[in-house]
Amino acid sequence: MTEFKILIIDDEKIYRDEISEFLKSKDYVVYEADKPSIGLDLLKKEEIDIVILDINLPGMDGLEVLQIIKKKYSEIEVIMITGFGNRRTIINAMRYGASDFFPKPFKLINIQTSIKRTKRFVEMKKQLHRTQQNFDLLSKELQEKTGSQIIGVSSAIKSIINLMSKIAKSDKTNVLITGESGTGKELVARGIHYLSRRKNKYFYDVNCSAVPENLFESEFFGHKKGAFTGATENKTGWFQIADKGTLFLDEIGDLQLNLQTKFLRVLEQNKIRRVGSNTDLEIDVRVITATNRNLQKLIREKKFREDLFYRFSSFIIHIPPLRERKEDIPILLEYFADMFAKEMKRPIPEIERKVVHKITNYKFPGNVRELKNMIEQAIILCEGNTLKSILFRIRVVLKLQKTSI
Ligand SMILES: Nc1ncnc2c1ncn2[C@@H]1O[C@H](COP(=O)(O)OP(=O)(O)OP(=O)(O)O)[C@@H](O)[C@H]1O
Ligand SMILES: [Mg+2]
Repeated sequence: MTEFKILIIDDEKIYRDEISEFLKSKDYVVYEADKPSIGLDLLKKEEIDIVILDINLPGMDGLEVLQIIKKKYSEIEVIMITGFGNRRTIINAMRYGASDFFPKPFKLINIQTSIKRTKRFVEMKKQLHRTQQNFDLLSKELQEKTGSQIIGVSSAIKSIINLMSKIAKSDKTNVLITGESGTGKELVARGIHYLSRRKNKYFYDVNCSAVPENLFESEFFGHKKGAFTGATENKTGWFQIADKGTLFLDEIGDLQLNLQTKFLRVLEQNKIRRVGSNTDLEIDVRVITATNRNLQKLIREKKFREDLFYRFSSFIIHIPPLRERKEDIPILLEYFADMFAKEMKRPIPEIERKVVHKITNYKFPGNVRELKNMIEQAIILCEGNTLKSILFRIRVVLKLQKTSI
């Protein structure tokens, strides 16, 4: 367990001693200062979590000290104590960010309860900070490896990124990614591949709904020369191409029932048999599937095999539609505006609050893809290079899209 550090700034020794002794008996690490200057010096040297601060201090008013602490070390929580607490002082202390206030004399048990509560709060903030740092690191890594970041501040996006890094490490796990069109399923699939040890091998991307039925086996599993009319050469199938890498089966929900059966064996035994061959080939492929359809519903309607569903979906990542994570819209807007403006050598638009507000309340049936296209159009269409015309275009495009749905 990490140490929890508390600093007491009070000129009255009797109070310092009383609080200090009590807190030490509860295993806190305690520092003491009888003057604000000594207290502020200690804050520079030690990573203090909570300050217990008196108001009437020599040299500087406690409220002033409180403001300095909050300005310089916003993560530190401050509990105020005073012998002359009037309403005004209490209100000011709270306004400047104190987390609690006790008039002297106080009961130690009350101070302890307040410290316990504040400690929980500080720990929660630290945890959040660590998660944010992790998230930023992962995002950066993805950017370096795939050239595209997964942008978002919503808890949904953050937990998806965390999950991606865990799945990337367990490198045989098959993953099913669900979500409406344009939510970023392919982006997530690529991210998992490039974060995993398979990153130097193929990420092979197949749209299942586009593979003709008569070529299905030959395309996925390969064939031997002479296996059928027209098979003039040996052919390597997609599973084999993706060996040691990742095979991304997009639109899996559109796969016909009779073709679904053909995947069962390869997913179960990691073996394929080329058309016209009578020997098996071992393969080591991670299969990531994606669909914007409701597979559970398709299973109930007997249009999708349940046994295949379980083989594909050791893990399921669901990406919620953009309208259910509106907090991602402003940051995506800024990211795409910045990206396209740079690409097109235009000035980077400063986005007005009004525009952000309008866009945030739009439903985005086409999700992130629609937002991305909208910003691209806005930046292409604007004629002048002024920020105003770019903003104006964003508004016009929004209007056009609104009337077209
Ligand atoms: N969180 C995000 N951050 C940055 N770009 C994103 C994000 N989500 C999606 N995009 C971008 O939006 C576009 C659509 O994403 P993608 O192709 O991954 O969607 P999809 O879910 O596979 O859609 P479909 O079901 O239509 O195939 C891509 O250009 C992708 O880079
Ligand atoms: Mg896709």
